[in-house]
Amino acid sequence: MGKTILLVGGQFGDEGKGKCIDFLTEKADVVARFQGGNNAGHTVIVKSEKFKFHLIPSGILHKGTLNVIGNGVVVDPKVLVGEIEGLEKRGFKITPNNLAISSSAHVILLKHIDEDLQTGQKIGTTGRGIGPAYTDKIARKGMRMSAFVEQNSPYAQRLKPLVKETYSVLNDAIKKKKNILLEGAQGTMLDVDHGTYPYVTSSNPTAGGASTGTGIGPRKINAVLGVFKAYTTRVGSGPFPTELGTEMQAKNEDMKKPLQPAEIQAANEGSEYYQGKVLRKQGMEYGTTTGRPRRTGWFDAVMANYSVIINSMDAIALTKLDVLSHLKKLRIAKAYRLGGKILPNFPTDGSMLSKCVPVYEEMKGWSQPLENVSSFSQLPSEAKAYIKRIEELTNTPVAMVSVGPGRSQTIVLKKNFFF
Ligand code: IMP
Repeated sequence: MGKTILLVGGQFGDEGKGKCIDFLTEKADVVARFQGGNNAGHTVIVKSEKFKFHLIPSGILHKGTLNVIGNGVVVDPKVLVGEIEGLEKRGFKITPNNLAISSSAHVILLKHIDEDLQTGQKIGTTGRGIGPAYTDKIARKGMRMSAFVEQNSPYAQRLKPLVKETYSVLNDAIKKKKNILLEGAQGTMLDVDHGTYPYVTSSNPTAGGASTGTGIGPRKINAVLGVFKAYTTRVGSGPFPTELGTEMQAKNEDMKKPLQPAEIQAANEGSEYYQGKVLRKQGMEYGTTTGRPRRTGWFDAVMANYSVIINSMDAIALTKLDVLSHLKKLRIAKAYRLGGKILPNFPTDGSMLSKCVPVYEEMKGWSQPLENVSSFSQLPSEAKAYIKRIEELTNTPVAMVSVGPGRSQTIVLKKNFFF
């Protein structure tokens, strides 16, 4: 029996989706992207070899897996051909058997990149032309891949054999009872409809986007897995209720300087900035696409609940739990206070969200490293309690936990959830 699993980011992107996708891909016959473009960045580590992807689904590393760039994606042909050539140099052959690009996907043109570089600073965009390309798509004046590959350029010629009507490829695979993984990029809080507008990306990384972005009807999607970091990060501007320190402080740090013991001590003595710095340094929180330092903060269960609801998440993949080691006390936001009142719901209005003050619950941390933990029972009791509390506060089971970037650093808690 085949299954279609949809994986979405529950926070501001960079939740460690690439690692979860790589884990799921082992048993997937097809991996498809449905939105975004090369603003995304997944790092996958296989046998200590590092692979970075911006457009091609990470299923490309698995022999026999078909990778699909769906109609909802915006494609920069130069970047895509660059990724294909990069993979080919490392011994992976890219053919119509392992990569299909939707003929309806829109193309990012040079003018889109120029416009993004000129106008994207306020939002802190990645400068890849994403917003302007989607603007042209919605304004009905964009260029689709079907038209692009009719041109005579070397990029068009290289991509032409890979361009197909992918809705048909995907629905055929479902009919044939194949395992399909729908891979979301960015995250719920960057969704143009449901995120912290206007500080969002220009597509729908939420579950609904998977149907429109692939042509797979919603009833054919069997399960939704939400990926959450064990804390929160955000790149670019916009509201972030549980942030530790400020965006400016993160920007001004020396990226190369390793974390000092005195800084861990300062964090454990209560300095919020250093708590954030510990998360940033231990989590290596620097953007895959832009190299920018990420803003860091505590896990936000109010936001997580909102994500669970609007994506109809069935289970959670909790990543980077190992990064919390050495912090004596951990915090989880369980409510927001605004103007002296506790809010009943997550506010979708960005300016309201930016004024919310989190109400925290404090939990005990743990000092031991988790990198070598391979089962739930080996986790320190405090880490077990932390996971359990997230399950309670979100009303959603944690199906897997990640304790490091490698494939083996994955603890599966709900085997039946996966393929
Ligand atoms: P754009 O997607 O380049 O238009 O950028 C819009 C906002 O989304 C900016 O705040 C970016 O930092 C953020 N963003 C876009 N892609 C990602 C991602 O893959 N991870 C995290 N943030 C992202």
